[in-house]
Amino acid sequence: MDFVSQYKGEVDLALEEFFVKKEAGKSGIEKDAISKLREFTMRGGKRIRPVFMILGYWLNSDIDSKIVSASVSLELMQSYLLIHDDIIDQSDVRRGGPTFHKMFGYEERINEGISIVCADLSDAYSHEALLEGDFAPDRLNKAMKLMSETVEYTGIGQLMDITLSLGNNITPEDVTSIHKYKTAQYTVNGPMKMGAILAGYHDPEKIDSYGIPLGIAFQIKDDILGMFGNEKDLGKSVVSDFEEGKMTHLILYTYEMAKKSEVEFIKERIGRKAVSDNDFLRVKEIVENCGALEKTRELSRMYYDKAISSIDDLTDSSAQRSQLNIMADLMVRRVK
Ligand code: IPE
Ligand code: IPE
Ligand code: MG
Ligand code: MG
Repeated sequence: MDFVSQYKGEVDLALEEFFVKKEAGKSGIEKDAISKLREFTMRGGKRIRPVFMILGYWLNSDIDSKIVSASVSLELMQSYLLIHDDIIDQSDVRRGGPTFHKMFGYEERINEGISIVCADLSDAYSHEALLEGDFAPDRLNKAMKLMSETVEYTGIGQLMDITLSLGNNITPEDVTSIHKYKTAQYTVNGPMKMGAILAGYHDPEKIDSYGIPLGIAFQIKDDILGMFGNEKDLGKSVVSDFEEGKMTHLILYTYEMAKKSEVEFIKERIGRKAVSDNDFLRVKEIVENCGALEKTRELSRMYYDKAISSIDDLTDSSAQRSQLNIMADLMVRRVK
């Protein structure tokens, strides 16, 4: 079995075990909250972050059950970040099912309130899962510190994401910076460095030159899939970025490259709910035909290449180098 399938399977089992233990003996709203968190977390998810943590660990240690259990913390983190993100973005679909705040049957305000608190619970569980591991205290301390920094980064990125799209003067460079904060740290770099630290790897800072560009390439790909992807594969809406008015490289390059009338067509529709299928098809045609799609792909490729060129500096092991290459490919060639 390949590395990703194997460890995705092991992480799923460890996650399931974590939730079974949490749910035991609980009742009422507490049981309901935990079982909904379990359902949401187990419904799907590529488990990229735990896999990167395990890969980081492998840089300086054999892979063992301790690191698999600790990596569960990153999926519990992913759950709380996604629950909050879907409320912020008013998204209805995630991982092929309802977003967390659509899983409760109360009125909207109450559903959202419950969901925000369930996300807080998942935050606490995330710490619990990491702290349970029997790692040397100094390594665990450093990994915890990095986890805090990683979440701090993500929070700043989300704040930038929410506010920068409001103005008219956001640049493609701003979008790249949002991607670095909002996604790259918590998706690739932080997880891999945490794993490396837990294994006592000599120079975790080196991982930045792989993790940050690859995380940026991943989010650019996410934006491309968020417009040109297939909703069934992706498990989330492919019009919501547009309806939300999200300023992506695709949109900003289109503003630079398309004809004036085409830019007008898009500006009249972006950020509004219920864009018609025909109009959205036309938007996609404009983005593609003016060259903005290709330019965005090139940007993603540039970051991918940067990540690839740093691999040899991280390890001498050809098996590890090859896996780092495979991971980079997976991040940008994915359809979900
Ligand atoms: C979604 O992350 C949020 C982004 C940073 C784009 P993933 O694409 O890793 O989502 P799951 O965990 O596989 O559902
Ligand atoms: C999510 O970003 C990043 C997080 C910090 C969770 P997006 O809002 O761009 O991701 P999707 O498209 O909802 O998964
Ligand atoms: Mg979102
Ligand atoms: Mg968002």
